[in-house]
Amino acid sequence: MIRLENVTFGYNTEPVLKDVSFNIEPGESRIIMGPSGSGKSTILRLILGLDCPWSGQVFIDGDDICGMKLKQLQKIRKQIGMVFQDGALFDSMTVGENVGYYQFEYSKKSVAEIEEEVRQMLEFVNLDPDIIDRLPEELSGGMRRRVAVARAMLSTQPKIMLFDEPTTGLDPLATQNVLNLITKLREVSKISVIIVTHQIADALKLADKFIVMKNGHLVFDGDIDGLRSSERQEVIDFLTPFKNSVAEVMRRDFT
Ligand SMILES: Nc1ncnc2c1ncn2[C@@H]1O[C@H](COP(=O)(O)OP(=O)(O)O)[C@@H](O)[C@H]1O
Ligand SMILES: [Mg+2]
Repeated sequence: MIRLENVTFGYNTEPVLKDVSFNIEPGESRIIMGPSGSGKSTILRLILGLDCPWSGQVFIDGDDICGMKLKQLQKIRKQIGMVFQDGALFDSMTVGENVGYYQFEYSKKSVAEIEEEVRQMLEFVNLDPDIIDRLPEELSGGMRRRVAVARAMLSTQPKIMLFDEPTTGLDPLATQNVLNLITKLREVSKISVIIVTHQIADALKLADKFIVMKNGHLVFDGDIDGLRSSERQEVIDFLTPFKNSVAEVMRRDFT
């Protein structure tokens, strides 16, 4: 469904992704891990078609998204929901206007119909539907992030949801709520998720396949067993600082 093939890309003269290839099948999910600056968010930008590779290709459902006409790209983008780190809600609009934004703008549904859909979606993300008239600034960080998920779900009915650092800056309870929601998207709604995170203890609970990035290189792509047994120095170097928080899941001796 999503395939990067030998992708090299940079913003200036230096490449920040170097010959990156991976393949995500329908229904599969991936956690993208790696140090800050290793190119994780850039991968999401390329999947959304916000940038095009210097060389190599990004395929979605078999089509090279950088060779597409705008209309076709917009159709592809409708299948992809993106949740940015801060939630990126419209501050001057109520929760209901945020979640229903695309429906209000682009559908011919009545206000009452849209409001009903918004309420159902707020319930889906475990928020009280009565917050519909509140402003984003009145909500906690964890609630804002769930509102952002509700908006992405209602706007595009996505097959794929991209999350950039979804739990960064949240307290433990809010983190757990967001993790539960992502699990629900995968298991109940059968949506593929791609999650960028450096909170790897959380990450290990969220998916079955992992990518590790280092300095723009993909240094690992595989399942938890592969991660446990990887002999690659970059992978060991990346995991070692987290050994206390991941020891149980990893069952691996760090020396
Ligand atoms: N808009 C931009 N312009 C120039 N350089 C950028 C831009 N965005 C990211 N970079 C650089 O690209 C590299 C990878 O960034 P990024 O993909 O955001 O890493 P990560 O998400 O893993 O922290 C970093 O060195 C970063 O400074
Ligand atoms: Mg990033």
